[in-house]
Amino acid sequence: MSETVAAQLDVLKVEALACTACRLSEGRTHVVFGDGSPDADVIIVGEAPGRREDEQGVPFVGPSGKLLDRLLGEIGLERTDVYIANVVKCRPPGNRDPRPDEIEACKGYLREQLRLIDPKVVVTLGNFSSKLLLKTETGITRLRGTAYEWWGRHLVPTFHPAAALRGSAQVLEDMRYDFGLIRDAIDGNLASQDDPEPATTPVSDPDPEQLGLFGR
Ligand code: URA
Repeated sequence: MSETVAAQLDVLKVEALACTACRLSEGRTHVVFGDGSPDADVIIVGEAPGRREDEQGVPFVGPSGKLLDRLLGEIGLERTDVYIANVVKCRPPGNRDPRPDEIEACKGYLREQLRLIDPKVVVTLGNFSSKLLLKTETGITRLRGTAYEWWGRHLVPTFHPAAALRGSAQVLEDMRYDFGLIRDAIDGNLASQDDPEPATTPVSDPDPEQLGLFGR
């Protein structure tokens, strides 16, 4: 296993804990760096810590996390089998959306987490992580339902669990379908992947080489 990866993640975490690159550092209780196995085949990328995550310093420990754990369980995965991170590592005040400059300031941490863990499957929960990683302005409702080929691996976008908690039963059913794609991707059972729609206004660097650390 990857003691080296674990050690490198620890170094990155120490850096993140001291980060003051954006205004979100001013209101945080804890930096929520990430949690899970450095050997994970699956990385799950949420949006931003909420109140409970900020209190505990761990991602997805509130109601959304409970639903996430349930959906993972339904495809035979425990939380300890995956790695969970967010687009921004500090809680936006009042749980407002993260702003573009905050995402920009924070995205290097996510890039390094992805590079170090080098998962087979990346799962993006909701609009922020899906649009950032797929470099698209297309919304999650249209993006989901498909596994995309992404830097030599699979990316499965799905709704954020919070959407299922406040939305209709159909949102949860759609998430179940998408989690089935995660299982298929892990098992090598995906027939084919589509390309994401071309980005019209990239949220992140327009030059993929700038994100080249995602490549192998
Ligand atoms: N929602 C997120 O996007 N991330 C968390 O860590 C918790 C809730």
